[in-house]
Amino acid sequence: PGTLQGRDLLSIRDLSREEIRLILDTAKQLKQRYYAGERVIPVLKGKTIALLFEKPSTRTRVSMEVAAVQLGAYPLVLRKGETQLSRGEPIKDTARVLSRYVDAIAARVYSHKSLEELAAYSTVPVINMLSDLEHPLQALADALTIEERFGSVKGVKVAYVGDGRNNVAHSLLLVVAKLGGHIAIASPPGLQPRSDVVEAAQAAAEESGATIEILEDPREAVRGADVVYTDVWVSMGEEGEAEQRRRMLRGYQVNEQLMSLASSRAVFMHCLPAHRGEEVTEEVIEGPWSIVWDQAENRLHVQKAVLALLLSP
Ligand code: CP
Ligand code: NVA
Repeated sequence: PGTLQGRDLLSIRDLSREEIRLILDTAKQLKQRYYAGERVIPVLKGKTIALLFEKPSTRTRVSMEVAAVQLGAYPLVLRKGETQLSRGEPIKDTARVLSRYVDAIAARVYSHKSLEELAAYSTVPVINMLSDLEHPLQALADALTIEERFGSVKGVKVAYVGDGRNNVAHSLLLVVAKLGGHIAIASPPGLQPRSDVVEAAQAAAEESGATIEILEDPREAVRGADVVYTDVWVSMGEEGEAEQRRRMLRGYQVNEQLMSLASSRAVFMHCLPAHRGEEVTEEVIEGPWSIVWDQAENRLHVQKAVLALLLSP
């Protein structure tokens, strides 16, 4: 404990409760210093970070670039289509070549296996900027946002409604389980979280005192919840299943009626981008419950903590 130097960050599973604590506490300190006027803290001066994207991104791309700059590092954005990956150069070759030039590789990929291959062949830290399996940087920012609002994740009741089998749901489940919160995920059959992720979360819950419920009924999950969380019904790469998913998830929209079942202090969270009229209504995302902009902001502060801890002694 105390350092994460040289480590990869592919999954929330790889982090102990103490390591998550270290990231969140470091993020809080960096955020305080940022608000006190210390915009640049050049602990990574002279380092270069490759940011590789197979898919689009607004928040992750901009917050990672800004995070690197504010730590004194140079961010190098690589869109897959502009690299030799698009002409068939193997990931394992790309990993070894990039490792000779840069101090870390962050990647947003379709298949989580691509990240595992990058990490296996890279000699510098590899960071998951979203895969089909997990979105760990999002979950860490979500945990920070919940702590800012409620003081801690422990004891807080989180309800996730919608596609329970996606990256955001998996990482949220794991982070809440590690930090001792209560999480209920409501999804239709076929879109419930992967069983290996649920098992990992249950193992973490035994140590942390977290409780985990995997449900079908969104009302049951949301009743008394402090946080109501949803994500898109069609993730990047799933466009071919769009119609089927919209049908399966029709009853899972977060609207005012559903929010009225939550606790009196409830907030609404969404990783964004949001599809108004599908997984959430305009009234909820723009309403008094919504803390989605704080949540988006926290990506910056959490990623500064991750980069500083992975890349500096
Ligand atoms: N939440 C999130 O990762 O957003 P982007 O796809 O815009 O990076
Ligand atoms: N589940 C969404 C998250 C986007 C940040 C997707 O993978 O497209």
